[in-house]
Amino acid sequence: MPYDLIIRDALVIDGSDSPGYRADVAIGNGRIQRIGNLHGVSASEEINAAGRVLAPGFIDVHTHDDTVVIRQPEMLPKITQGVTTVIVGNCGISASPVTLAGDPPDPMNLLGPASAFVYPRFRDYRQAVDQARPAVNVAALIGHTALRSNHLDDLMRTARPAEISAMREQLRVSLQDGALGLSTGLAYASAYSAETDEVKQLAEELTAFGAVYTTHLRSEFKPVLEAMQEAFEIGRHARSPVVISHLKCAGAGNWGRSPQLLDALETAARTQPVGCDCYPYAASSSTLDLKQVTDAFRITITWSTPCPDQGGRDLQDIAAGWNLSLLDAARKLQPAGAVYYGMDEQDVQRIMQHPLSMIGSDGLPEDPFPHPRLWGAFPRVLGHFSRDLGLFPLHKAIHKMTGLTATRFGLHERGFIRQGYWADLVLFNAATVRDVADFTAPKRAAEGIDGVWVNGHLSYAGGKPQGERHGRFLQRSGSLVSGFKQG
Ligand code: ZN
Ligand code: CU
Repeated sequence: MPYDLIIRDALVIDGSDSPGYRADVAIGNGRIQRIGNLHGVSASEEINAAGRVLAPGFIDVHTHDDTVVIRQPEMLPKITQGVTTVIVGNCGISASPVTLAGDPPDPMNLLGPASAFVYPRFRDYRQAVDQARPAVNVAALIGHTALRSNHLDDLMRTARPAEISAMREQLRVSLQDGALGLSTGLAYASAYSAETDEVKQLAEELTAFGAVYTTHLRSEFKPVLEAMQEAFEIGRHARSPVVISHLKCAGAGNWGRSPQLLDALETAARTQPVGCDCYPYAASSSTLDLKQVTDAFRITITWSTPCPDQGGRDLQDIAAGWNLSLLDAARKLQPAGAVYYGMDEQDVQRIMQHPLSMIGSDGLPEDPFPHPRLWGAFPRVLGHFSRDLGLFPLHKAIHKMTGLTATRFGLHERGFIRQGYWADLVLFNAATVRDVADFTAPKRAAEGIDGVWVNGHLSYAGGKPQGERHGRFLQRSGSLVSGFKQG
């Protein structure tokens, strides 16, 4: 039987951190069937990919796409970048298992309004993803803050023993139903009061599954090293791999400290499995946090519930117009979203270059004026950072978005171009690929992405979605605990 598709004469960069090689790739039944010189072999469809790079579809390791994969399953911000899998549930916030008492607490509101939270059990969420059949594959973490909001009447304190048991039970059932692990967002007020011991007890549930612990650290500012140690301690306690989310040196007083952070990461990596993700920008974005309001760097407002017309404006200008201090203006805007230009470019580049870092967008799809990372993170690494600045070779950039991520998160038969693996693929022009989205026009598709296949089906080409959507829910497959060393 002929194959469904042969992509001929591509430069195959297979996700394993090795340089590319010229080959033909045959696809059938959703999988990569053969790689090599397939001269004389036929297929229902053939593509001449000379001069193009064929890579594994990118895995967006850090997303908040939990509800958007169901409500806007075309997933244009991601498929246009060559992303074929998103990991949702980061930073302590997940769409499930959640039963809300009222409005979602900050920052769960980043995932949508109360009406978006309709998955009391993880399996309900999983079913909804399968039913929506989004354009990209979806794997999910369980958020600590989501669990807290289910069981605590007051998020400004640590959990009591009975509440911890109830949270553990929900986490355990979710892991049984295929969740990847536990995420925390300890910097946010809704989780900050959770003592380390609360998280350690929850993380104990990860051990039996060999599941991962990811964390938006308790601080990314001055006490960032202490916060990293807390994360490593939790990981050691649970014998779980640790992924530090969007590792950064936040705040002007913290600039230049990335070598210290990376040193700490490397030291931990000698005795336990650790890594981090990062996005390729020197500005962060989240809900508007009064603790982060400062005149040391620019802050723009992306949305505001009481003042929607202020979206896209500088906090400085808004405050001046209202004749208020920055802090008072911020109070008046809340609840709101913001972009903080609070990082140093050198730190961003150093962290991105480090062999333990993966690329994730941290994009906020609900935001009416989103940080450009939502539409631009992956092509920005390939174009701006790898090709234009020469920060690392292309195969290294691709490894950080594919093979490394699939390995760390146990995504079985994904993340590499290998015979028998699922045919999640992206074909692009290495000479022209670039992010077009920027801070003034953030919702723009990347250039240079020629074709994207999800589970063997062409899903994006010629600047448009193609055919039906073919993403799937991906469950955790296997234990990730190997990598702990004695001593
Ligand atoms: Zn975060
Ligand atoms: Cu995040």
